[in-house]
Amino acid sequence: MKSITQAKIKKGTYVLLRADLNVPLDTGKVRDDFRISKIIPTLEYLQKKGARTIVISHLGEKGETLTPVAKHLAKKIKGVKFVPAIFGEEVLIAREKMVAGDILILENLRTDIGEKSNDSLFAKTLAGMAEIFVSDAFSASHRKHASIVGIPKYLPSYAGLQLFEEIKHLSKILKPRHPFVFILGGAKISTKLPLLKSYKDKADTLFVGGAVANDFFLARGFEVGTSLVDDTVVPKNILSAKSLFIPIDIITDSHQVKLSEKVGKRDRILDAGPATVAVMTEKIKKAKLVLMNGPLGDYEHGFAGGTEALLKAMVASSAITIVGGGDSVATVQKMKLEKKLTFVSTGGGAMLEYLAKGTLPGIQALKK
Ligand code: 3PG
Repeated sequence: MKSITQAKIKKGTYVLLRADLNVPLDTGKVRDDFRISKIIPTLEYLQKKGARTIVISHLGEKGETLTPVAKHLAKKIKGVKFVPAIFGEEVLIAREKMVAGDILILENLRTDIGEKSNDSLFAKTLAGMAEIFVSDAFSASHRKHASIVGIPKYLPSYAGLQLFEEIKHLSKILKPRHPFVFILGGAKISTKLPLLKSYKDKADTLFVGGAVANDFFLARGFEVGTSLVDDTVVPKNILSAKSLFIPIDIITDSHQVKLSEKVGKRDRILDAGPATVAVMTEKIKKAKLVLMNGPLGDYEHGFAGGTEALLKAMVASSAITIVGGGDSVATVQKMKLEKKLTFVSTGGGAMLEYLAKGTLPGIQALKK
């Protein structure tokens, strides 16, 4: 895979940049601009080279407009223009008018069915707008969509600066230093099983928290009351893994601390308890590598204590510390810890898949 720094970009070169501008919006405004801020170095690099950069991205599932995201980006970097279309006269005119250093953002790729169906004509037409393709969308690289795996077939293709950083740091987890502590929280155990399978033997401590732990409690025969569970059976070889550690105590919706095996029928488990946090803090202290993906509790409703305590322990340790997944990253930002951690990934599902498989379709596509 070649880096953008190896691309021959002259003044005026048209570059098609696949970014991941899929960010949370709130009443028409960007609520969290972490991913937007991570595309800036690549945009600045292209501006310095004098490229004419056409930015493409998806947003959400239903094809909402990228207008608020483009407005937000325009506040962060000069030369940004937006056209509410992917193809057509309006796009052609805007493209023609571009001068060196300009950034033109096109409309949400998912407003066209060709994106998700990886339609070759859709990919070829997008490719036709530029001389070089750059993907800086690590967090969307698990999708076999036209802008991820289709376009590289038609243009010389390169990885953007953030995509390179992601691989540089996340590849350290594929062959981890020991002791390696893996903290896996959040919900939807079904999406995390491949990861649990491949890390049960690689991690020295595989700590399962968040709603994912509820399925483990069930599998151990504990009551989980009204807690969030997935209807997925935890495989026996994960349950019996030596590395596995699940919360020994929890916090309920009425803010009571209970032993995990003492949860009642009316309780709702919403965070890990203090004894669990104490055990994990000790493990983090001794670790050489710590990875957190997903929060330990319902942080949006005030149950962020477990996640925050472990993040503080990570920051205090001398280990390599990596955090990924939208909700954990939001907590990192709220606590202003980004610069104190080794790396904070833009990837959610992409990070999980990269760690389980060691590559992604979007990375493979850039290698061809
Ligand atoms: C993400 O947010 O994980 C990426 O932008 C991919 O989005 P998707 O899950 O809608 O494909």
